Amino acid sequence: MKKRALITGATAGIGKAFARALARRGWNLVIISRDTARMDALASELRQQHNVYIDVVTADLTTSTGLALATAAVRDSDRPVDLLINNAGASLALLFGDTPIADEDWHLDLLVRAPMHLMDAALKTMSARENRNDKGAIVNVASVAAFALSGTYSAHKAWLVNLSQWAHFRYKNKGIHVMALCPGFVRTEFHQRSNLDISDIDDWMWLDADRLVAGALQDLDHKKAISIPSLRYKFLVFMTRIMPAFIVAALAKRGR
Ligand SMILES: NC(=O)c1ccc[n+]([C@@H]2O[C@H](COP(=O)([O-])OP(=O)(O)OC[C@H]3O[C@@H](n4cnc5c(N)ncnc54)[C@H](OP(=O)(O)O)[C@@H]3O)[C@@H](O)[C@H]2O)c1
Repeated sequence: MKKRALITGATAGIGKAFARALARRGWNLVIISRDTARMDALASELRQQHNVYIDVVTADLTTSTGLALATAAVRDSDRPVDLLINNAGASLALLFGDTPIADEDWHLDLLVRAPMHLMDAALKTMSARENRNDKGAIVNVASVAAFALSGTYSAHKAWLVNLSQWAHFRYKNKGIHVMALCPGFVRTEFHQRSNLDISDIDDWMWLDADRLVAGALQDLDHKKAISIPSLRYKFLVFMTRIMPAFIVAALAKRGR
């Protein structure tokens, strides 16, 4: 039987690259975002190319109704989800302290509350599956910003990495694999949508979404706890672990 993955934020960037890569592997998909037209276009392209089933769920994950719809899709026992990819995300243009607190609430809901609810639903649903060593997997798309010091974006991603690592060790012998994916700068719609200035980001710092996803799926196959795509970012993350905090904070000024 074909496996099914649920991907939040599949209309663009990293989520769309996951949708393409998994459909190529023959996975059925549930894709979730706010933009039905873009999801329908992607779904018909992937159905045609790879002969897979794709369910489209229109949901704003920062609303209670949208989150309930997404959670119901994770719990659906008629169409069981084998892989949850908590990917939907965005940033605020300004840093904490300069941003209206209502925007910070929205940001928190998208980057923390939504993945927490979906992960909770997935862990409970997957745990209840009987007689399976491989009950399911969860990929939480965080960021290398989790290892930096850069306002609420990096704090929310650090929260996600911390929870993912804990869940990785708690659930690894119960047949559920949890992995945090920590990309560096990736060419997607992310920076433009959030009005972030990326003019001073050097070329060598940019990653390609399709290559990043290919590496992430390899790390998932190898049951890693944390996936940091590319040697350059592995090295940078290592440096953040040994450098004094004031240097890490100064380096992180260059963006999210
Ligand atoms: N790009 C980078 O440099 C980078 C680096 C590290 C980590 N990340 C992380 O990677 C993840 C994906 O980012 P990306 O770069 O692929 O960004 P992107 O190209 O802007 O795509 C973001 C996706 O999230 C969805 N989304 C945003 N708000 C949503 C909401 N309220 N409800 C439902 N879906 C929502 C968008 O769909 P709709 O607009 O259609 O709803 C879109 O599909 C994020 O978690 C981001 O923090 C990105």
